[in-house]
Amino acid sequence: MASHEKLDIVVVGSCIMDLISYSERQPKPGETIKGSKFMTGFGGKGANQCFMAAKLGAKCLMVSKVGKDDFGNSYIRNYQEHGMSTEYVQQTSEASTAIAAITVSQDGQNCIIIVTGALDLLSESDVLQAESCIKNCKVMLCQLEIDQNVSLFAMKLAKKHGVKTIFNSAPAQCNINPEFFTVCDIFCANETEAEILTGLSVKSLEEGKIAVKALLDQGCNTVILTLGEQGSLFATKDSPTVVHVPITKVKAVDTTGAGDAYLGSLAYYIALMPELPLLEAIKRASAIAGLSVQSPGTQSSFPKREQLPNNLF
Ligand SMILES: Nc1ncnc2c1ncn2[C@@H]1O[C@H](COP(=O)(O)OP(=O)(O)OP(=O)(O)O)[C@@H](O)[C@H]1O
Ligand SMILES: *[C@@H]1O[C@H](CO)[C@@H](O)[C@H](O)[C@H]1NC(C)=O
Ligand SMILES: *[C@@H]1O[C@H](CO)[C@@H](O)[C@H](O)[C@H]1NC(C)=O
Repeated sequence: MASHEKLDIVVVGSCIMDLISYSERQPKPGETIKGSKFMTGFGGKGANQCFMAAKLGAKCLMVSKVGKDDFGNSYIRNYQEHGMSTEYVQQTSEASTAIAAITVSQDGQNCIIIVTGALDLLSESDVLQAESCIKNCKVMLCQLEIDQNVSLFAMKLAKKHGVKTIFNSAPAQCNINPEFFTVCDIFCANETEAEILTGLSVKSLEEGKIAVKALLDQGCNTVILTLGEQGSLFATKDSPTVVHVPITKVKAVDTTGAGDAYLGSLAYYIALMPELPLLEAIKRASAIAGLSVQSPGTQSSFPKREQLPNNLF
């Protein structure tokens, strides 16, 4: 993609191949058991969020790293099939594409091993190489599935060019650099992350409101706290009264990736409909996340623009 081409959203983050085995129960150490089904899936919070925004029609750029291997090839093909630029998804021969080996047993439990491989080699200089594209974007989205220094570096670079930044503090980490709170325009956490970051308990809406205030006190401009079926909370520095955005009750089939659908949609609204009030953007992102939990899979459960009602746009 030429650097002058208009882009909407850049995600600097992870892409991970999910390798999912289904069996009656989990194997014990040293044991081999027969499974009933195997599937691969495209995952990783960065890629998931980027796909969600692309499915809604945003022009998206992914900055990431995969191995020079079959999984890397198929991930790159997957990006291209969704119209995303892969110019800054480098393939390295130094490490394998990141994988998550997942076993799901009939009681619904999963055991997961993640090998981050090539993702560990995504560096600040890789981000710098994409600078001419990054500065043409409206929104940057980052998470914590890559080296946190690289995420922080990317958001600082975005800020320098006036690109809005959305930071999703997932997966939960206790020692994040305090600069994360101030560098982003929107700080988005779920209840587990908010508990770890604030040291507070976040088990109810009331506790959630206190956690949102605690995150504002850390210097955040806008804080969003997602609470699964309880919807989400948000507040801003200028308007610190915490607002609750409830969800419409739906029949949930598979909630994996709800948070990613929410973040990707939110980035879409902020990039493409910047005049929309934040409350309205959050309501619409929640509606899209609510649709995603009604079908199985992660990226495959994200609705496309054609499947959504016009009043969301
Ligand atoms: N069962 C549900 N029904 C309707 N909407 C839901 C449901 N679960 C989640 N959502 C929507 O998705 C948003 C994000 O969900 P959640 O807080 O579970 O994120 P998360 O913990 O990051 O999820 P995950 O890790 O499973 O991707 C919620 O704020 C809500 O708007
Ligand atoms: C990240 O940056 C901090 C301080 O800027 C440094 O101490 C730390 O070693 C860095 N971590 C990595 C993995 O490079
Ligand atoms: C919140 O996200 C973390 C990843 O950061 C995940 O492990 C956890 O299950 C999520 N919490 C809830 C309550 O969904």
